Amino acid sequence: MIRVVGIGLNGKDSLTTEVKSIVINTSILIGSQRHLKYFSDYSGTTIALENFIKDIKVLKKLSKDNKSIVVLVSGDPLFFGLGRLLLQEINKKDLEFYPNLTSIQLAFSYIKVPWHDAQLISIHGRNLDELILSFKKGKQKIAILTDNYNSPQIIASIYLSLSLLKSYDVWVCENLGRVDQKINCFSPQKLADLKQYEFSSLNIVIFLENNNIALNTQEYAQLPVLGIRDEHFLTFKDRPGLMTKREVRIAILGELSLQPKQVIWDIGAGTGSVSIEISRLSNTSKVYAIEKTAVGINIITKNCKRFRTYNVVPFALTNLQELYELPSPDRIFIGGSGGKLIEILEICQQKLKENGIITISLATVENLGMSINWLKNNSWNYTLLSIQLSRSLAIANLTRLYPINPVFLLRANRR
Ligand SMILES: C[S@@+](CC[C@H](N)C(=O)[O-])C[C@H]1O[C@@H](n2cnc3c(N)ncnc32)[C@H](O)[C@@H]1O
Repeated sequence: MIRVVGIGLNGKDSLTTEVKSIVINTSILIGSQRHLKYFSDYSGTTIALENFIKDIKVLKKLSKDNKSIVVLVSGDPLFFGLGRLLLQEINKKDLEFYPNLTSIQLAFSYIKVPWHDAQLISIHGRNLDELILSFKKGKQKIAILTDNYNSPQIIASIYLSLSLLKSYDVWVCENLGRVDQKINCFSPQKLADLKQYEFSSLNIVIFLENNNIALNTQEYAQLPVLGIRDEHFLTFKDRPGLMTKREVRIAILGELSLQPKQVIWDIGAGTGSVSIEISRLSNTSKVYAIEKTAVGINIITKNCKRFRTYNVVPFALTNLQELYELPSPDRIFIGGSGGKLIEILEICQQKLKENGIITISLATVENLGMSINWLKNNSWNYTLLSIQLSRSLAIANLTRLYPINPVFLLRANRR
């Protein structure tokens, strides 16, 4: 019989009296050097685990010889542990499991957060695809088993390189259950910046979504004049990808040819990211962040608070006719039209000041065609910019590219 015993970093003390006696009375004790040291006074045969392919052969042979064997492993053997592999190679009836607390369980207890709804991922000797997918899905709690290669800093850099729209606190929990246990909380950026620091090789990383609205003083001071990272904005929980991406925003601001003291309409403002960038570039201008959904208006208002923006006016549009009530704009950006592009263009044509400029961001060729037809029929000049960009993504110490959704930017002015 092979008894697989989970053990904690406090060694023998982590075992119940019953399990301790199973270990002491076995005829063969198998484990890593670290685990075997906990039983230095054990008098039977010990075998140190080295390499799974070789070790499994030994185990199979010993189990056929009907020896009583204990294999020591960390935490719960069936939680990303040796248990799963043993079940693939050895008959179930010859195996018994004695679980201990898993490292993840300890980590969540120390940071005092329920974990039944956490996404549990191991990148211990594995690729990072599942982790990247969980980040992209915007999971609220992600607990990660690491290894020497995939350090906490690398995980934080991967998260940052994805430029996602969720804000997280990142906990690094080292040597759980041992006297030198350390538990610290970082922002992803701060963690990624700790390049030279070496965490203990036994660590768990937990990403916990936070809902902090206002940026702290340091974050605010570090904001660039132009090109705020996407993940700094609060966004739609169910559709995080809906926000205009940073690089596209920068191009929009350029296409608008902004000048000081202007009135600007941002129609279909969504999260308000374009309005906020405009307002930071041009603090003497007044920006109307026009949005038809209540959720959008709520997010825009919060983002204005978050970025301490005072010259953006969130404007809840229930009926297109309300646009006539707003002051005539020098610039109009149309980022969303809710299927009413032509009606919006008709109103813009009446309200835009004499030398005004409209920039429209379009994700579909149908809307592009419709806009160009309208501009031609109404004798406007236009230029078209097609934007197809890719961002870099760190994969361990390599770099690969992933694309941002292509869009068209149409810039128009009267002839
Ligand atoms: C192969 S997994 C084993 C997981 C184990 N079965 C469990 O239940 O915790 C090894 C990884 O678990 C994590 N780990 C295990 N024990 C830990 C501890 N005491 N403190 C921090 N991390 C630990 C580390 O990320 C380590 O690289």
